[in-house]
Amino acid sequence: MSGSCRSRADPAACKQRSRPLRPKVLITRKIFEESIACVARHCDVDTNQRDVPLTPHQLIRRLQGKQGAITLLTDTISDAVLARCPDLKIVSNVAVGFNNLDVKAATERGVMMTNTPGVLDDTTADLTWCLILATSRGLIDADRYFRSGKWKGWGLMQFLGRDIHHKTLGICGLGRIGRRVAKRAKGFDMRILYTDRTRAAEDVERDLGVAFVDKRTLLKESDVVTLHVPLSPETTHYISTAELKLMKPTAVLVNSSRGPVVDEEALVRALGEGWIAGAGLDVYEREPRPAPGLTRLKNVVLAPHIGSASMETRLKMSNMAAENCVAGLTGRRPPNLINPQVLMRQHPRPTGAR
Ligand code: NAP
Ligand code: GLV
Repeated sequence: MSGSCRSRADPAACKQRSRPLRPKVLITRKIFEESIACVARHCDVDTNQRDVPLTPHQLIRRLQGKQGAITLLTDTISDAVLARCPDLKIVSNVAVGFNNLDVKAATERGVMMTNTPGVLDDTTADLTWCLILATSRGLIDADRYFRSGKWKGWGLMQFLGRDIHHKTLGICGLGRIGRRVAKRAKGFDMRILYTDRTRAAEDVERDLGVAFVDKRTLLKESDVVTLHVPLSPETTHYISTAELKLMKPTAVLVNSSRGPVVDEEALVRALGEGWIAGAGLDVYEREPRPAPGLTRLKNVVLAPHIGSASMETRLKMSNMAAENCVAGLTGRRPPNLINPQVLMRQHPRPTGAR
């Protein structure tokens, strides 16, 4: 763990413990002990030890009298929740994606919101590549076949997948994670296209070896389309029937961004009817439930939202969220503040600067 929590661990923390008015924090689900200890050095902590998402009712009840919340992406912090938790000063999300938070409402109510950008880029890009390779080469299906005991030995025509090297990769959203995916594609000698609402700087394009194209061109020309846009009203069903019909019948779609970025029912049809060759998914439109028919398809690889799930990265995310929360409640600017406008308003009240 880096930064504020550790450096404030010892004598100062003991002093703070004896203060009567320590901020109160709810940790909505299981995070690393080290991160809980970091928060507990400065705040009174209530944690949901069951590691099952709290219902909206439970969430509101447990947030009463709390100044801080450490949330996971399975928690919805809507305006209605914020309205019923007037003591909240900060919501610290343990994820880079923050579509589960109503940032606009929080800003209007003077509540800080933070996320965990940067620390999970390589890990999520690695998982994206797992999906690209496993889907294109039919690895999961081959594994199942082997385990079933049906394999009778090598055959020239068995399990013929598709090459990735020297093919065209299309990246939708060349942000932090999209760039790490592009970096890895260079090692496969791929032609790399990208589309984004903001074109990257010339030196970024040159270093990554990527070419900017419009979405339609990317969909028509790519052998692999990989999605790295955040979920927003503009990116909901970013890939639906029309887009799937533009893709090559030999192409593969990979989604490790957010489920609703893809119209999952349209995807089930596309995979079933052969509009595209396959899909690798880490995220789903209505997690944890798959769209009807998805799990019966053989040309899809399904991961249970594990993009950032390495021990090292999840620990970094957990500690980062703890540090954001502690900073916000001890009068410092949280390092990963999503809505800095809150600090410019007349009534921001970071607590803890007692
Ligand atoms: P990021 O750095 O913000 O990159 C997102 C990129 O998408 C940016 O270049 C952004 O452009 C672009 N974009 C935004 N809206 C767009 C639109 N309407 N059309 C086209 N491009 C658009 O985010 P990141 O850190 O790479 O993370 C991306 C997403 O991955 C997260 O939001 C999260 O939902 C998801 N994620 C999933 C996992 C997992 O476990 N599967 C792990 C980590 C992250 P601008 O520069 O103009 O904003
Ligand atoms: C994971 O999905 C994240 O957004 O960090």
